[in-house]
Amino acid sequence: MDKQNTIRLQKYMALSGVASRRKSEEIILQGRVKVNSQTIRTLGVKVNQQKDKIEVDGKEIKQKQKKIYIMLNKPVAVVSTVNDQFNRETVIDLIKNEIKERIYPVGRLDYDTEGLILLTNDGEFTNGITHPKHHIDKTYIAVVKGIPTELEKQRFAKGLKIEDYKTAPAEIEVVKTMDRSSKIKITIHEGKNRQVRKMCEAIGHPVIKLKRVAIGNVHLAHLHSGSWRHLKSEEVKYLLKESRGTF
Ligand code: URA
Repeated sequence: MDKQNTIRLQKYMALSGVASRRKSEEIILQGRVKVNSQTIRTLGVKVNQQKDKIEVDGKEIKQKQKKIYIMLNKPVAVVSTVNDQFNRETVIDLIKNEIKERIYPVGRLDYDTEGLILLTNDGEFTNGITHPKHHIDKTYIAVVKGIPTELEKQRFAKGLKIEDYKTAPAEIEVVKTMDRSSKIKITIHEGKNRQVRKMCEAIGHPVIKLKRVAIGNVHLAHLHSGSWRHLKSEEVKYLLKESRGTF
């Protein structure tokens, strides 16, 4: 039996907002509850929260799921998937001791990219944030080889031909120059696979180090590598609004 997902019927009813556990017991004893179309009249029945169909007075009830929104500062050498076929450390491994709900990353960061990644159990939020139509800004700080010239920056900003597509207009700013490299700030509105790396490569300045620092107005700020925090309610509200494309 799937123990993790199995709970008493009256608890399931209480979690679904039907009534308190005590009151739910009375409702069960009155013969008003069906599990997978079978009327239950005794206490002690357990149900699978994910598989069983529960009805009260002929109406299906569903558990209210608490929505969780987290930001994590992903270190390099951590995969941004729930499981990894090579058993490498995942973003979920970094939070699973404290968060018991099933959550998953919103989009991806490369294995060798660090920085801001969001995690949630809200599927609609995920779809909205990752949908290319909504053009949510993603800001990166990259250390690249060499120093981009004005012309190269213009090419980057206008959109570049990469493999079989042209990138949308982007922003690029050199924030610091070193001997043989420079630190640049890049904002893109799309999220194609390894897009920043490919764009920097296309203007002749391959990426040495890459970090995502913001998604829209939500900034990583001083969150340490490997640390996470719940998003503030105003951050959730803002991202939900952006993810619905209502701006
Ligand atoms: N662009 C990249 O090249 N890598 C990332 O991880 C994110 C954006």
